[in-house]
Amino acid sequence: MTESHEHPHHPILTPVQLGPYTLRNRMVMAPMTRSRAGEGLAPTPIAATYYAQRASAGLIVTEGSQVSPQGVGYPNTPGIHSDAQVEGWKRVTAAVHEQGGRIFLQLWHVGRVSHPSFQPEGALPVAPSAIAAEGTVRSADGPQPFVAPRALELAEIPGVVAQFAHGARSALEAGFDGVEIHGANGYLIDQFLRDGTNHRTDAYGGPVENRVRFLVEVVEAVVGVWGADRVGVRFSPTGTFNSMSDSDPVATFGHAAQALDRFGLAYLHVVEPSSGRFAVPGAPAVAQAMRERFHGAFILNGGFDLATADAAIAAGQADLISFGQLFLANPDLPERFAEGAPLNAPDFATFYTGGEKGYVDYPARDAVAAAV
Ligand SMILES: Cc1cc2nc3c(=O)[nH]c(=O)nc-3n(C[C@H](O)[C@H](O)[C@H](O)COP(=O)(O)O)c2cc1C
Repeated sequence: MTESHEHPHHPILTPVQLGPYTLRNRMVMAPMTRSRAGEGLAPTPIAATYYAQRASAGLIVTEGSQVSPQGVGYPNTPGIHSDAQVEGWKRVTAAVHEQGGRIFLQLWHVGRVSHPSFQPEGALPVAPSAIAAEGTVRSADGPQPFVAPRALELAEIPGVVAQFAHGARSALEAGFDGVEIHGANGYLIDQFLRDGTNHRTDAYGGPVENRVRFLVEVVEAVVGVWGADRVGVRFSPTGTFNSMSDSDPVATFGHAAQALDRFGLAYLHVVEPSSGRFAVPGAPAVAQAMRERFHGAFILNGGFDLATADAAIAAGQADLISFGQLFLANPDLPERFAEGAPLNAPDFATFYTGGEKGYVDYPARDAVAAAV
């Protein structure tokens, strides 16, 4: 392997402090579901290979990992609540640490976008309100329409918060460096935050001060396990995935950022694509309003390449940038950026198909160089 060089003209390749960790660069591997978990929804040995291949990222955030059987919403996504899952993840964290990398686990509960076929005893999925998402869920038996979820009773909410605490403890046991709470992309926490999915009339619904309550309780519980400086939170203020909407994203997510500021968290991670396949045309800019209200490290995501990432860091819009599809397809993305090397293209067809193809077989550039 060629040594990577210091590239002071690439701000994205300079070190940065994140909580207790000095990261070697400002490149984060964005969380990406790959649907390759094995028996008991535990990570398999090839997951360790996949993440270790990408360990030159300043920080890896794993794929979303359900905190409980109720949190599942897709086939073959890993969990972080059983002993077998903790054992599987131990192999992953050991392999990444052996390469000198840092890895946070993404704590996930999908809420309403699950399906009875994924739920214990075929139960309905749970959510703040009984409002079905539009479209279809990739159930074990193929695409099925989303069902109307069951609205959580007030008395059940502490139990759901406890699921996140259990996932956080399991992640600690599995040797992670920290955890990221998944508050993005239309899953349970996001369903509480946005008024398109939260029609509650109790202390968890209505004004934004109430809609952030579930998030804040989850953060408190997870911080109780990890300490604030090893906990991050992810949001997607204007994302429409999973038929999400909010009447005032700047107010909602500005308030969420402010509510989290007092904890001293490791970071906020905000998905706000201005280009690429996840961009939402006409969406208001929310990320910078959040950055003004949150004084910890700020990670931006969505359609970034080397030039736009460098520009965002240089302009102070973010401290780190996360890359999804580019890291999926380029295990040695930081080295490629440092050398100005060409990039592998992602193969969309194998994003979620299982097995090694499209997972651990994207070549590093030395392998490419060796082959020519
Ligand atoms: C295959 C795939 C799986 C994803 N799974 C997750 C996930 O588990 N959790 C999450 O927060 N975002 C997930 N995302 C969203 C990415 O983290 C990221 O926000 C998105 O890819 C945009 O960044 P990019 O343009 O750099 O790829 C996924 C994206 C892709 C392509």
